[in-house]
Amino acid sequence: MNKIPEHIAIIMDGNGRWAKALGKIRTQGHYQGVKNVRNIAIYANELGVKCLTLYAFSTENWKRPLEEVNYLMALPKFFFDSYIKELMAKNIKVMMIGEMDSLPKEAKAIFARAIDMTKDNTGMILNFALNYGSHQEILRAAKNFALDVLNDKSVLDIDEDAFSQYLYTKDLPVIDLLIRTGGEVRLSNFLLYQLAYSELVFIDTLWPDFDNEAFDECLKIYYQRDRRFGGLNEKENY
Ligand code: FPP
Repeated sequence: MNKIPEHIAIIMDGNGRWAKALGKIRTQGHYQGVKNVRNIAIYANELGVKCLTLYAFSTENWKRPLEEVNYLMALPKFFFDSYIKELMAKNIKVMMIGEMDSLPKEAKAIFARAIDMTKDNTGMILNFALNYGSHQEILRAAKNFALDVLNDKSVLDIDEDAFSQYLYTKDLPVIDLLIRTGGEVRLSNFLLYQLAYSELVFIDTLWPDFDNEAFDECLKIYYQRDRRFGGLNEKENY
């Protein structure tokens, strides 16, 4: 039996192209995309995934036209208004990583409420990366560590485990699998530190079309990988 990846992260790319191909405007692609977040979250939970991290808005996405940014910032309200009951019924716990302070007040409040409502749930963690960028995260970690040193923490105390406590992901399992939909082959400033030994799967399917079958296909590719974490596999041992 293949062991389901504990933590899967997804770069949900292709909403704009999905809309364009159907003669729709880009925001209609995001609308379809947010509905698909519900479908994939429910399926991942059924499969026994412990944590699903979704790249919903990057620190670079502010460069998009204001109308699109505003639309994306309104998606948390649509998502939680539509699905929070179902998330509760499925025992799913909502979390968020990213720079929350500069989010619009309403989006921040909506997330805070969903996180609080689901905080005692013990099922899958549905973790949204919102206003997230790895460079910002690593810089923030370095600054916070420097501040602790100024407050008498010893520089010698820092090792890999201690440093990871300064990252947004400190309470989350190690990422086993990263999936990027939409055909591009890059990480776009997503979880650069955390993906060191994760398996990376890039799939052409556009995010709104990424269904359970496409998810299964990615898992199949993952199961075929030989994860050695820099060591040797059993047959190669002397
Ligand atoms: C990238 O596609 C997608 C995004 C920038 C937004 C993704 C967000 C969601 C799917 C919903 C998030 C849900 C919540 C609740 C916050 P793109 O627009 O870059 O696609 P393109 O490459 O085809 O233009």
